[in-house]
Amino acid sequence: MQERLKELQAEAIQKVDQSAGLKELNDIRVAYLGKKGPITEVLRGMGKLSAEERPVIGALANEVREAIAAKIEAKQSALEEAAVQEKLAAESIDVTLPGRPVKAGNHHPLTKIIEEIEDLFIGMGYEIAEGPEVEQDYYNFEALNLPKGHPARDMQDSFYITEEILLRTHTSPVQARTMEKHQGKGPIKIICPGKVYRRDNDDATHSHQFMQIEGLVVGENIRMSDLKGTLNVFAKKMFGEDREIRLRPSFFPFTEPSVEMDISCKMCGGHGCNVCKHTGWIEILGAGMVHPNVLEMAGYDSKKYTGFAFGMGPERIAMLKYGVDDIRHFYTNDVRFLNQFAIEE
Ligand code: DAH
Repeated sequence: MQERLKELQAEAIQKVDQSAGLKELNDIRVAYLGKKGPITEVLRGMGKLSAEERPVIGALANEVREAIAAKIEAKQSALEEAAVQEKLAAESIDVTLPGRPVKAGNHHPLTKIIEEIEDLFIGMGYEIAEGPEVEQDYYNFEALNLPKGHPARDMQDSFYITEEILLRTHTSPVQARTMEKHQGKGPIKIICPGKVYRRDNDDATHSHQFMQIEGLVVGENIRMSDLKGTLNVFAKKMFGEDREIRLRPSFFPFTEPSVEMDISCKMCGGHGCNVCKHTGWIEILGAGMVHPNVLEMAGYDSKKYTGFAFGMGPERIAMLKYGVDDIRHFYTNDVRFLNQFAIEE
C-alpha cells in the first residue's frame, strides 16, 4: 500500500508538470484528490489494516495528498502568471508610434456668413425667428399683399405642391407668421434665416434652392431713418467701415415705400470696374416700410404701428465678401472649395 501511494504521488506530479492549462490541471485535481480518487480509496480501505500499519499509512496518505495539492497550487500560480504576462504582451501599446491625424471639419462658408449676420443683429437686440419651408400660399403671398393673380407673383417662380401649398419662395412669410403670433401688439424685432426655393434654371448667379435672411421690425414710431441707420450699421460691419450705402427706389408689394440697398464697390473704390458693372455700386438687398395692408392683415392697427423689413441673400453676400464667382460652389460640396474657409474660428 505504501508503494501504491508513492506511485500515485509520482504519477500525479508528473502529470501536473506536463499539464499546459488550468482546465487540465483541474482535471488532475479531481482525478487524484477528489472523492472518487485513488487516495480517498486508500484511506477508505484502512479499516482492513492492522493497528500498527494504520497510522503509518494514514500519515503517508496525508503526506502524499498534501504534496500533490501543493504541486497543483504551485503549477496553478505559474499558469495564471503566464496567462497574465501573455495578455499584457498582447495588449501592449507602443506609445512612441505617431498618432493618426484627426481630420477636423470646418463650417461651411454660408453657415459662417449667416452666423456672422445673426450675431450682428442679435447684438442690436433682434431675435431669431423660423418658419416652415413647405408653406401655405396664404403666408407666402396673400398675407404679403400679393393676392391670387397679382402680377408681382411672376417675380417669384414657385414650386407648388397643391394649389394652396408650395415651397416658400422667400423668407418673407415668416414676417406674416410672426406678426400674426404677436396678435396686434408690438414691438417685434426679428431676423429669419432659412432656405427658399424657386423654379429657376441654375447658373453662376441662380440656384433653385438658396438662402435668405429676412428682417422685420414693428413698433410705434418706426421710421425710414431707422431702416437706413440699421442697414448702414449692417453694411459697415459686414463689408468694412469705409463702405458707403445708397438706397434706390424699388417695388415690393409688401413694403411701401420700397428700396434696394447698394454698397460702394470695394474693388474700384466707387470709380467703376467689372465687379460693379462700371457703376461704382453693388446691389445687396431689398427693403422698405411694411405696407399698411400687411400690418392690417396680421391684426395690427396701421395708424398706431409702423415697421420696416429687409431681405437679403447670404450667398450673394458671401460671394462678394470672399470673391466667389459661382453660386453653385456653395452646393456642389467640393472639399477643395470648402477647405479654403478652414481658417481658425
Ligand atoms: N422677399 C424679397 C425677395 O425675395 C426680398 C425682400 C424685399 C424682403 C424687401 C423684404 C423686403 O422684407 O422688405 O425678393
